[in-house]
Amino acid sequence: MKRIKASAPAKVILLGEHFVVHGEPAIVLAINKRATVTVEMRNDQKIFIESKNIGVSGFFVNDEFHPQRGGERAREKLKPICAIVKEAIRKYNPGFGVNINIESSIPIGAGLGSSAAVSVASASAIFSIFNPKVSKDAIFKVAFDAEKIVHETPSGVDPAVSTYGGILWYCRSKPIRRLKINVDLPLVIGNTGKERSTGKLVAKVNELRRRYPLIVGKIIRAGGEIVKRSIRALREGDLETLGELMNINHELLRALGVSCRELEELIYAARKAGALGAKLTGAGGGGCMIALAHPEKIIDVAYAIKEAGGEVLVTEKTDEGIIIEK
Ligand code: MEV
Repeated sequence: MKRIKASAPAKVILLGEHFVVHGEPAIVLAINKRATVTVEMRNDQKIFIESKNIGVSGFFVNDEFHPQRGGERAREKLKPICAIVKEAIRKYNPGFGVNINIESSIPIGAGLGSSAAVSVASASAIFSIFNPKVSKDAIFKVAFDAEKIVHETPSGVDPAVSTYGGILWYCRSKPIRRLKINVDLPLVIGNTGKERSTGKLVAKVNELRRRYPLIVGKIIRAGGEIVKRSIRALREGDLETLGELMNINHELLRALGVSCRELEELIYAARKAGALGAKLTGAGGGGCMIALAHPEKIIDVAYAIKEAGGEVLVTEKTDEGIIIEK
């Protein structure tokens, strides 16, 4: 019985979340927390998907869903993965079903791209079982389509970094650029523990832009300018400027209404403890913040975030996007 295991990393957005949905660039890095998906062939035509972390599982048979764990919630959660399987079946018409098992060490609804990592790992494992030579570009496209089922109008930045890994410059509809940076980025991640929905936050910004097109349009363009300016700071290893740009980026996100008290408390604590810059990361409304600090200040900043009620996540950036383990 053929079996394939694939994994894909989580991410932190350094600069440019939300603005990237509206056509500006973002800078994003893959981190060493991964979602792993195992796919094996079945003798019948059924599709069985289970995710132990979120406590859901069930069978998709023709167009019907039969939950095994998690009831109706299971259908909603597993729908994007089922869409990936159906796309593979449409393309390769294999004549057999699959069992899919999802495991992940990425906090859910925390702005670290957990759903994109699961979609990318799933697309990678499912497509590789039918076509071992499937390209990363093809996997990115399928995972991005699946993300559109979950997140309103996503930019694609999350599935891109999960697919390719490393540090990327990402702008919708432009070729993705891998950034070569000679400096370490000493970052602390703080999780507020407040789960939120990326789709709803993206919709909130869309709505604000509809009501105040000129004002919000200028904020979005300013976000793009921050990313442009940060490229120089990254190349020169100028952490002070990068930190300042992160702070400005955060204040623009606040203006768009996507911060919250819990995030502000962690960000304030990090800055007070000597961070060069601190901002929310991902969609906001809860989830995680990041702080940049000189290496000698990292422990103080991490401690301050913890004291302010955050969970500190220890992780590193990774160059590895998709990994296939046979
Ligand atoms: C979510 O990680 C980042 C957002 O910019 C949404 C997106 O780009 O799809 C908020």
